[in-house]
Amino acid sequence: MPVTQINAMLGRLEQGFRQIKQVSADMAHDLRTPITTLLGQTEVAPGTPRDNAYYQRLPGSNYEELQRISCMIDNMLFLAQAEQPDQEIQRVRVDITEEIARVCDYFDDIALERNVTIKVSGGGTGWVDVLLFRRALANLLSNAVRYAEPESQIEVVAEPVREGIAVRVSNRGPTISPDDQQRIFDRFYRVDLSRKDSAHSCGLGLSIVSSIMQLHHGRCWVESSSGVTTFGLLFPPEKTDACSDQR
Ligand SMILES: Nc1ncnc2c1ncn2[C@@H]1O[C@H](COP(=O)(O)OP(=O)(O)O)[C@@H](O)[C@H]1O
Ligand SMILES: [Mg+2]
Repeated sequence: MPVTQINAMLGRLEQGFRQIKQVSADMAHDLRTPITTLLGQTEVAPGTPRDNAYYQRLPGSNYEELQRISCMIDNMLFLAQAEQPDQEIQRVRVDITEEIARVCDYFDDIALERNVTIKVSGGGTGWVDVLLFRRALANLLSNAVRYAEPESQIEVVAEPVREGIAVRVSNRGPTISPDDQQRIFDRFYRVDLSRKDSAHSCGLGLSIVSSIMQLHHGRCWVESSSGVTTFGLLFPPEKTDACSDQR
């Protein structure tokens, strides 16, 4: 094997090790926050007398922290499983419009709360693992609803293209810088660190989208400029698994 190839291989291995280290460090860091809160509240609770309101609030607050931990563990397990080399997915032919409508229905109430509407257009047939398709789209929609400007419209467009079927989710909101766009599909990466403590933000949603697209041998991408952000998914057509796994 020529030296250049050996060096390239060593480079890839080193990058792989670095990523593993980074993910463990990020995971430990993200678990530490809710666990520290739980520990603090549990230690203080019996020692210091408090009013009833405090004790009534405590289970709710603990529940939220436990929900964060549980969400993170579920997502980490999903990612670990998706990375197994022999991981098989169950692809079937589906009416993408129907599947999009089903996922959007689920978000209608949350969108309404934020005065945001969801408009669906286009359509076509896809060859997808239905549960994984729903999960990927739900992750994009939950972000779109969260980051959409109040009273704006989220657009979901499905379009048959030469390489399969593309599904795009666009919302009006903060522009994601080119640097952040590069890293946004990485595990635990969040542009807005103030969201870090939210029970619904594990920083894993987009890395799960990326894994789901790799399992489909498709790809996902982001475009963001002038206050409009679009996330795209490309699902290859039936039985052509030759697409790259680039983002
Ligand atoms: N539609 C969007 N508009 C602006 N920023 C977004 C959007 N979707 C995702 N992001 C940014 O990408 C980060 C990672 O998203 P994600 O992986 O879903 O994690 P989480 O939603 O748990 O924070 C978010 O924290 C946010 O900073
Ligand atoms: Mg998310």
